[in-house]
Amino acid sequence: MKRVLEPEFMDDEEQVLAYAEADFSSSNQLFVDRLVAEYPSNMKHVLDLGCGPADICIRLVRMKPSVRVTAIDASAAMVRVAQQAVVDANLQDQVTVVKARLPGLSLEEDDFDTIVSKDFLHHLPNPTVFWQELKHLSQRHTAICVMDLFRPRSEDAAKAIVESVSAHEPEIFKTDFYNSLLAAFSLDEVRSQFRELGLEFAIEKVSERHFLVTGFTDGSSCRQQTSTNA
Ligand SMILES: C[S@@+](CC[C@H](N)C(=O)[O-])C[C@H]1O[C@@H](n2cnc3c(N)ncnc32)[C@H](O)[C@@H]1O
Repeated sequence: MKRVLEPEFMDDEEQVLAYAEADFSSSNQLFVDRLVAEYPSNMKHVLDLGCGPADICIRLVRMKPSVRVTAIDASAAMVRVAQQAVVDANLQDQVTVVKARLPGLSLEEDDFDTIVSKDFLHHLPNPTVFWQELKHLSQRHTAICVMDLFRPRSEDAAKAIVESVSAHEPEIFKTDFYNSLLAAFSLDEVRSQFRELGLEFAIEKVSERHFLVTGFTDGSSCRQQTSTNA
């Protein structure tokens, strides 16, 4: 099945609220568990690209209270929701959410030892923008942890995933989720993005709908190299 682009930003208030209220606990916790396990020594200042409602930032700080997180998202509506979630969690000292858009990010601080991103890559029409921005924002030995959807084999397979994961969510959310699955990349497409840009990251399937990319920007491997390159 060919990739079908979806709207890049999540600007619509109703769409943003449906997304913020949806239950991502299992994939978000899986992501944070892997992040902390892979990079126990790279947890000083983490940058989250396309942070959405900041659930990942909040989970991360609750697991690692000494970490600081800078989180960016291009949608004003999403940033408002994220900032409120951070206040509700009383984590304003640890998590800063900024409205900013890739490419060409220019952030006040740039001392990130880890850059993370979940379910964001597929929003970009051109994925090269994302990987180049990672390189641009990195120091020599910055850890990378990126999780995203991979594209199912067919529209029917995408519909089946939506129903199995989000049967009880509002229609606006299910439509978004379906569109995201169709806009996602295959693992082979992501591998060719790495080849094109000379990136040496590992990629593995971690669930029936997600892949995980790990590695360091200087090409060294992770502390625990669990990738099967599946
Ligand atoms: C599907 S959400 C993922 C949110 C969050 N990472 C999560 O997993 O819950 C993708 C987010 O990326 C944001 N986004 C899309 N294009 C962007 C860009 N060029 N720069 C920054 N954020 C962008 C959208 O506004 C949206 O909030």
